[in-house]
Amino acid sequence: MTAIDTAIRAAAADIELIGVSKAYDAKTVVIPLLNVALRPGEFTVVLGPSGCGKSTLLQMIAGLERVSGGKILIGGREVQDLEPKHRGCAMVFQNYALYPHMTVAENMAYSLKVAGVSKVERTERVATVATMLGLADYLSRKPGQLSGGQRQRVAIGRAIIREPGVLLFDEPLSNLDAQLRHDMRVELADLHHRIGATSVFVTHDQVEAMTLADRILILNKGRIEQFDTPKAIYHHPASVFVAKFIGAPPMNILAVVGDGSTLRLADGQVIANYAGKGNFQLGIRPEDIVVNSGGPIHAQICYREDLGSHEILEANIAGEQLRIATPFGAEIDTTSTLSLSFPRARLHLFDGETGRAMSHTFDETEVTPASVRVYQ
Ligand SMILES: Nc1ncnc2c1ncn2[C@@H]1O[C@H](COP(=O)(O)OP(=O)(O)O)[C@@H](O)[C@H]1O
Ligand SMILES: [Mg+2]
Repeated sequence: MTAIDTAIRAAAADIELIGVSKAYDAKTVVIPLLNVALRPGEFTVVLGPSGCGKSTLLQMIAGLERVSGGKILIGGREVQDLEPKHRGCAMVFQNYALYPHMTVAENMAYSLKVAGVSKVERTERVATVATMLGLADYLSRKPGQLSGGQRQRVAIGRAIIREPGVLLFDEPLSNLDAQLRHDMRVELADLHHRIGATSVFVTHDQVEAMTLADRILILNKGRIEQFDTPKAIYHHPASVFVAKFIGAPPMNILAVVGDGSTLRLADGQVIANYAGKGNFQLGIRPEDIVVNSGGPIHAQICYREDLGSHEILEANIAGEQLRIATPFGAEIDTTSTLSLSFPRARLHLFDGETGRAMSHTFDETEVTPASVRVYQ
């Protein structure tokens, strides 16, 4: 950490939402009831599909939307009735929201000016933040004379210059092209380490969530599906919703039936030995499926996409779509039926009705081809 970093290092605050709800009107209940605690200095990514309430949640923390019920605590202080400027939060928006007639320096200094900070101190802090963000050579430019990435950096600079204890980001990278999004992700991660503010970052992009988050909060219709580390969410998704949201391509979900001794697909193929009875949903990630000539599970190839490093095979299994990611450099004969293995340790089992994950252990003995009965 350099002197520049410590110069704007914030006192990170914890954030607690207790029984928070939000309804825009009687018919639009966006957040039914939310309880969550974010640790000081933690980077939380709120991930979910469009319309699930991510921006609403962020705006309630910032004070741009009122809560309909419940409490919000920042650094142990109740803030739900305070003006945004008294909450110690700064927000970065998707559309940058820079003042077009002001220079980069003026944009960054604006909130300090409003807060009555002296000109000398403003100039000093602008210089510090601009150096941190690689904007020192652009201070006299107007936003219209900057690239998208530079504009986004100015927006971030404007947020961090006030040394907020909480930084809120609403899809800040969505307007950038793929390469720049990647570069800005790396910059943001680095910046977070350096300034240490508690950060809440909203996105619908699972790659941003996986790469940036200490913990990912997955939101579905205003409810928390899962709140855990990226690794835990990838390896132990709490529901089919989460399983299908993470991973590219996402986890395969297949309908299976338990007959008390085995789990079978709709066409009768045995996937594993299992003592439960009833309808379940079985999950397996494309990268966990093994393609080999001795594999007991059979699928018909429909389509293949060559990504250079590996291929994505699209296959049909028991009338459902199955995606398989082949290992690096594998040469797979896809002219005939695919023979596959689903490693037991890589299977996920979900309730057939609710889609919630079920704890399970599968018998480690592989289902050999001889034990497979195929019902046509
Ligand atoms: N000011 C508003 N008035 C009424 N409904 C709103 C308002 N803002 C958002 N909504 C509704 O609330 C839901 C969640 O919106 P939002 O929080 O913006 O979702 P997200 O950011 O996850 O895409 C949507 O159905 C949206 O139409
Ligand atoms: Mg939004």
